[in-house]
Formats: sequence, C-alpha cells, structure tokens
Amino acid sequence: MRKPHVITIAGAGSARVPALIGTLVNYKERFPLSKIIFYDIDEERMGLMEAYDRLVLNSFYPECQAVFTTDEDEAYRNTDFVFCQMRVGKTAMRSLDEKIPLKYGLVGQETCGPGGFAYGMRSLGAMKHMVEKVRSYSKDTWILNYTNPAAIVALGLDKMFPDDKRILNLCDQPYSLMKSYSKILGVPQEKLRARYFGLNHFGWFTQLKDTEGNDYFDTLRAYLRDHDFRPFNAEQRSKSWLDTYVRVNKYMKYLDEYVPTTYLQYYMFPQEIAAESDPEYTRADESRDSREREVFEACERAAGKDSMDREDMLTNSVFGNLMVEVAESIAYDLNNEFIVLVRNEGIISNFEETAIVEVAGTIGKEGAKGYPFGPIKPYYKGLMEGQYAYELLTVEAFMEQNYDKALMALILNRTVVDPSKAKAVLDDLLEANKDYWTLSKEA
Ligand code: G6P
Ligand code: MN
Repeated sequence: MRKPHVITIAGAGSARVPALIGTLVNYKERFPLSKIIFYDIDEERMGLMEAYDRLVLNSFYPECQAVFTTDEDEAYRNTDFVFCQMRVGKTAMRSLDEKIPLKYGLVGQETCGPGGFAYGMRSLGAMKHMVEKVRSYSKDTWILNYTNPAAIVALGLDKMFPDDKRILNLCDQPYSLMKSYSKILGVPQEKLRARYFGLNHFGWFTQLKDTEGNDYFDTLRAYLRDHDFRPFNAEQRSKSWLDTYVRVNKYMKYLDEYVPTTYLQYYMFPQEIAAESDPEYTRADESRDSREREVFEACERAAGKDSMDREDMLTNSVFGNLMVEVAESIAYDLNNEFIVLVRNEGIISNFEETAIVEVAGTIGKEGAKGYPFGPIKPYYKGLMEGQYAYELLTVEAFMEQNYDKALMALILNRTVVDPSKAKAVLDDLLEANKDYWTLSKEA
C-alpha cells in the first residue's frame, strides 16, 4: 500500500470542498490519507459543511482522521500538502470585483481585467502570509495553490519566494476544456495528449493527439468553427459560462489556427461582453444561486445523520480531480502529464525568461516541468507581452504599494486600455479594497 499523507485544506469553507472530499474518497487507494485538516478563518462558513464532511469521512473513509480548525498554526504545523483555495474577501468582494468595472463599461470578471487586478492584490497578501507560515514549520510541505487569479499569484509568489520549489500553482480550465474535447471527439480524456502555450487564462491549444499518436486537432478546429461549442463539464453550464464557450466559436471564425481558452474572450471582445453584462447580477450572484445553493442543501441534508448512501456523496468536480491527481503525481513521482504553470526559462524560446507560462508538461517529486515549446509567432507574442507586462506591474504594484504601476498595469490590460477609465476604476477599487490593500503615489 502507498504511504498515507496528511493534507490541509486551506479555505475549507469553500463550496468546492465537499466535492473535493468525494474525490479524496474515490482516490483513497491512489492517494491514501491519514488525516485531513480543514482550515478556514470563517468558522461559521466552514461549520455549514462540517457535518457533511464528517459524515462522508465516517461513512467511506474511517481510517482518515478529520480535524476542523481556525488556528493557522494547527493547520500548517504538521502537514504534507496544503490544498489552498482561499478566496480573500469571499463572495462579497468577488461581487464588487465584477460590478465596479461594469460601472465604467469595463469587463467585470473575477480573474481578468480590473476585477482580476483587485482580487490579485487581495490574494497576494494572504498567500504571502500563508507561505511564510507554512515554511516557518517545514520546507518540505507542498503548497498546491488554486487561489486565483493564478497568473498573478503564481508570478507574485515566484518573485517573493524565488527559491521555493514546493509551491505549485494550478488551473483546471485546460483540464476542463479537454473534458469537452474528449466528449466531442469520442476519445477518453485519459487518452488525450495536448500541447498548449500561453499565460494563465490567456492561452491556446496547439495540438491534440491520443496516446496512439492519432491526430485530432484539425477535426477539433473544424468542429469549433462550425458547431456550437457546449461545455461537457457540468459545472460550466450556467448562462455566463455558456456564453464563454460560444465566444470560442466566435473567435475561431476569425482565427482558427489554434484553439483559445474560454478566458481569451475577455481580451478579444471586451466591449461586447461589458455591454451584455447585467451590472446587478454577475457570476458571483449566479454561482451563489447555483453551485453554492446545491452544496449547502446537500450539507443541510447531512446534518444529524449518521450514515450516508454513496450516491449522495458529492464528487468528481474538475477542480477536485485535478488537485488530487496532481498530489498523487507528486507523492509517488508519477510524472503524469498536465498543463502546468512554470517559470518560462526558455520553454517558450522567444519569450521573457522569468514569466510564468502555461504549457503542457509533467508533475513529479521535483514539481512541474514544462515541455520545451520553441518560438511563438508575432501575433501571440505581442498579445502575451502586453498581458505579461500587466501581470508584472500588478505584482510590483503590490510589492511596492505603487499607485503608478497599478495604473500602468490597467492601461496595458486589453480589457481597459483607456487611461481615464483605468484611473477611475482603479480609484474605485482602491476605496472598495481598503481593508485589504493600499497604494501610494511615488514621492
Ligand atoms: C475555472 C477557472 C478557475 C475559476 C473557475 C470559476 O475553473 O479555471 O480559475 O476559479 O472557473 O468558476 P466559477 O464557477 O466560480 O465562476
Ligand atoms: Mn483557472
């Protein structure tokens, strides 16, 4: 039997956690656990899920101990893996990240544009603190980070902890898209092998084959040009997600060389998206009324019960499966293939060495390694240079509390561009985020 591990779930009040626990149950032979430490600073929110989490573990994983804590020392003192998906400011701040930009006719999205900037500034502070705390106890603990915006968090942590080889930043969107490709093409997802390049939430698939070497990329491109792209990931079927898939079709009618991530739409069609958005009801509201509601209802049903049917266990979320498969691949040095976030260092040969790029690669006991990609063409390079400069200036604005760098970052962002709008939205976000971050004008 494989050696069991201890994991800490940081942000255990997230509505994504119950399905993650289901995956941990299903993967207990592959990634066995002796203990799960559930940690959140919001005891009440974590408490809404505690009865459910305990019921699942008692029913299907009695050998795994469960600890619930709001004490960060207890959370990080003795653990092998931190699964981190904290959301600083919770849904209330997500809602502002989405709604404030819409006031100025700008895209309102949690990871892209001004909302992503504001969220990044909040996440960086909390993530820095978390890494310092974890490292005060152990240099060996793996930190698997899902906290968004992963592009900003990954770059910021790389700048603040450049020698730390045990922080891995993860995004499940490429994995999620491959789930859809698998259904479209009728090829099991485990057999699909992709090539991809870009920055996080800003990239393209360039190749898709199966393990026998059959090439499906042209079939996929033709399909996405001529058919409505519908997500096969059940979590992405609400209205706002469906729109993002349809815009992949739209983009591919212009340019179909590579297949873009759904997030590229915000940079390609920002005016149209802002105009179509409802400033009173954004994704924060929609996710609260869909995923959160379903999860909390399942948790309520669990309260007071002492046994549960396996069918009632939430499981199999894209996020949960990715986290657990990555942890397994590290723990047993499997070097399985994933789309990874890594420091470029020549992977994309004509792109900034110190950028964090998203490419196909492997994950094992040394962390993530990207496959060499070679040079990229001027169009993609141009887009990525601008976006990378935005990311870097955001991180520098955070580290130096520098207002001008924040303003430059937003002007560079393709969802903003106009300096007067950049300044107006920045000032508004600064005020709304005053409990989390601040900026000052250079003397
Ligand atoms: C995808 C992205 C994540 C993001 C999530 C948002 O999975 O890769 O980075 O957090 O979507 O989903 P939501 O349902 O909360 O809008
Ligand atoms: Mn992501």
